[in-house]
Amino acid sequence: MSDDRDASQGAHYFDDDPDVASDPVVVDVTLPDTAFSMETDRGVFSRGELDAGTSLLLRTPLPLASEGDLLDLGCGAGAIALTMARRSPGATIWAVDVNERALDLCARNADRNGLDNVRVVHPDEVAGDVRFSTIWSNPPIRIGKPKLRQLLFSWLDRLTADGTAALVVQKHLGADSLHRWLDFEGFWTERVTSKSGYRILAVSPRSVRDHPTTPEV
Ligand SMILES: C[S@@+](CC[C@H](N)C(=O)[O-])C[C@H]1O[C@@H](n2cnc3c(N)ncnc32)[C@H](O)[C@@H]1O
Repeated sequence: MSDDRDASQGAHYFDDDPDVASDPVVVDVTLPDTAFSMETDRGVFSRGELDAGTSLLLRTPLPLASEGDLLDLGCGAGAIALTMARRSPGATIWAVDVNERALDLCARNADRNGLDNVRVVHPDEVAGDVRFSTIWSNPPIRIGKPKLRQLLFSWLDRLTADGTAALVVQKHLGADSLHRWLDFEGFWTERVTSKSGYRILAVSPRSVRDHPTTPEV
């Protein structure tokens, strides 16, 4: 993960409306199965590079529905949403973020790559009855544990019965405690990858679990 503040002006990447001056940088992303370029900017997570955790998520073999509604939770400039859109051209990819500059960037990045199956919106603009067959996220750990858990809880509960989520979290930022909490809350959670200080957690909906484990959070 890159630094979460713009060094000179103290903006957080998860500010709703970062007031740091825009200074875009185009990043070329090359994955084993696809490549695209995306504009990044100050005031938005990971300016000037593909985040190492996001890169690991996108290089890990994970279930990805080919149709239906898919979610990139906290899309930033859109690396995850764009990859989902390329890999699942028949699906609708919802890319949500609270950061207005991130939403602008992500929408422009979908356009510049000719991806018309990406819907870039504020979280409040996703109708309450939309259910997701896949959720991928490099979640905003820095918003703090209570807010993060509330955020994950609300979106993970919108997985379809056979849906799956994948989260990339740094070990030193609480990946294992998050894993235990998800398990306790009844989400079937499995660590599928542990590499370079990152964990990838695969999460299935609560409906597939009968018996929550003892809390160790
Ligand atoms: C770690 S960054 C990941 C960005 C991008 N997905 C990537 O991989 O480069 C987390 C993102 O979550 C966004 N975020 C923070 N709070 C949020 C919320 N309540 N709902 C949706 N997104 C949020 C931040 O603005 C930020 O863009």
